[in-house]
Amino acid sequence: MSKILILYYSFEGSTREIAESISKVLKSDLMEVKPVEELKSKGFSKFIWGGYQVVTGKKPELIPLSKNLDDYDTVFIGTPIWAGTYAPPIKSLIEDYIEGKKVAYFYCHEGGHKKAIEKAKQAIEKKNAFIGAKGFMNPKKNLELSSEEAKNWAKLVLTKTIDL
Ligand SMILES: Cc1cc2nc3c(=O)[nH]c(=O)nc-3n(C[C@H](O)[C@H](O)[C@H](O)COP(=O)(O)O)c2cc1C
Repeated sequence: MSKILILYYSFEGSTREIAESISKVLKSDLMEVKPVEELKSKGFSKFIWGGYQVVTGKKPELIPLSKNLDDYDTVFIGTPIWAGTYAPPIKSLIEDYIEGKKVAYFYCHEGGHKKAIEKAKQAIEKKNAFIGAKGFMNPKKNLELSSEEAKNWAKLVLTKTIDL
């Protein structure tokens, strides 16, 4: 089987939980993507500051990745939804790091995610093959169920074969 890496950004832990479940079931490597400068507030102002970053198209500098992406041909990319789309560190990742891969995309949200897949698909497809996507609504509310869903989806998505 091809070598798989699960990459994710998580501000408050939900996306991390899903990423860990996927990594466990696929027995694949896991790497957290972190911006050099993280959002400071966990209170309401996080929405203003985080939303501002998205709306103004900020692409934050990332802490150097601890894995060599050349070693993987399939990557799963996970993100919380911010202002209707992927979080800024994932924008940096998709636009500046991910090329020539098979990419599956997953995201955590609280209901405001209508265009979440389409936007990510377009961005990912510029340089990669998009192999699937799945959203998880408030996964911490029922972590066991979300984790099961994530595992089943991850196995399913890998059954698709795409030649780059
Ligand atoms: C700055 C910011 C903006 C957000 N915008 C949205 C949004 O537009 N739609 C939505 O459904 N959830 C939104 N959320 C909620 C998160 O997507 C949701 O809580 C997610 O599960 C968090 O994942 P995490 O724990 O991995 O950070 C936002 C959260 C933050 C911090």
